[in-house]
Amino acid sequence: MQYVPFGQLGFEISRLGFGMMRLPQIVNGEEKTTDEARAIAMLRSAIDRGVNYVDTAYPYCAGQSEPIVGRALRDGYRERVKLATKLPVWKVESPQDLDRFLDEQLRRLDVPYVDFYLLHALDKERWEKMQSFHVTEFLDRAVKDGRIRYPSFSFHDDYAVFRDILLSYDWCMAQIQFNYLDIRNQAGLSGIRLARKRKVPLVVMEPLRGGALASPTPDIQALIDRYPEKRSAVEWAFRYVGDFGEVATILSGMSTEEQVEDNLRIFDDVRVGALSDADKRLIARLRQTYVKRMPIGCTRCAYCQPCPKGVQIPRIFSSYNEASMFGDMSRFTGRYQSIVQDQADASQCVRCGLCEDQCPQHLPIRTWLETAHKAGSSEK
Ligand SMILES: NC(=O)c1ccc[n+]([C@@H]2O[C@H](COP(=O)([O-])OP(=O)(O)OC[C@H]3O[C@@H](n4cnc5c(N)ncnc54)[C@H](OP(=O)(O)O)[C@@H]3O)[C@@H](O)[C@H]2O)c1
Repeated sequence: MQYVPFGQLGFEISRLGFGMMRLPQIVNGEEKTTDEARAIAMLRSAIDRGVNYVDTAYPYCAGQSEPIVGRALRDGYRERVKLATKLPVWKVESPQDLDRFLDEQLRRLDVPYVDFYLLHALDKERWEKMQSFHVTEFLDRAVKDGRIRYPSFSFHDDYAVFRDILLSYDWCMAQIQFNYLDIRNQAGLSGIRLARKRKVPLVVMEPLRGGALASPTPDIQALIDRYPEKRSAVEWAFRYVGDFGEVATILSGMSTEEQVEDNLRIFDDVRVGALSDADKRLIARLRQTYVKRMPIGCTRCAYCQPCPKGVQIPRIFSSYNEASMFGDMSRFTGRYQSIVQDQADASQCVRCGLCEDQCPQHLPIRTWLETAHKAGSSEK
């Protein structure tokens, strides 16, 4: 296992962190429960092999993750790791809820304190709501009374929002979605540069894009197979993220013992700055090959917004592109149905064309909306 200093917090952290969101499940007809015995054995064996960062959150595994982590960390394991959990900000309805959730989470985890306490999945709206509840005063107070050590946040929005949040408080860490496809998405490379400038260490989630990069399409696999250095698609994805010195630990949501084993092997040698120029060119080609498969040239600049009828054009197009990129349009159908529920789908379009007047890419938006609607409305 490789270790790096966790920014300036004064300790070293394993480059592989265990994400406790995708634990093995026992399926019984319609019912799913987390396989606690397997989850505990997997986490403990990873800790025995050097992992010292554990990431959980209030909603993971339908609320089962925190109590399972608590039980896994008995018998001396708690002292061997840094423990992170997250405030479910979308459930917070009053300033009093901030303390209520933290206290409940400490009980669920069966610990007197957590190391990292993150505001979970912040975006613009959630951050505004948290600010209205004076969340930073709550964080300062929870540090002072010993319930948390390092106030942090996890993030899912655009760079401008990331910048706003990062500069608003003395954060100990930021957790971002980052992988070789997301260099200009969410916080992206600009977010990494800003974090370096502000000396805020990063934790990376979704290094495999939630698992998608582990199942390469045949053309991607062919590029990987032709490269002289023999590494799997998973290994290239981890090595890409691990090359960044700003990234302290890389979370993997491992759901089988084989994945734990594979990732422990890979992280024996994931070092900062270790990729050669040729390695970087390979990864750039993998990215280009994925990106080329995105048929709609939408950059999500949102100049087309607001649509007078509320059609969420960038959201529809990015889901469509994403599904095309991985060659699996069934991924789009589910996401489109949630856009339909929000009444922001393409069927609301009255073809006024205002969006096309504004689009800097000159996209035939109305035609693409029809195509997306057909694809999103078809049976899986
Ligand atoms: N704060 C937030 O908003 C937020 C959001 C997302 C995640 N997270 C945290 O970040 C952690 C990491 O994110 P993630 O779970 O999305 O990470 P990820 O590494 O992008 O995806 C995990 C998935 O990748 C696949 N995988 C992992 N190792 C593999 C291997 N060696 N070979 C083949 N497939 C492999 C598995 O997919 P299969 O299960 O399909 O096999 C696994 O479920 C989460 O577990 C969670 O703790 C936080």
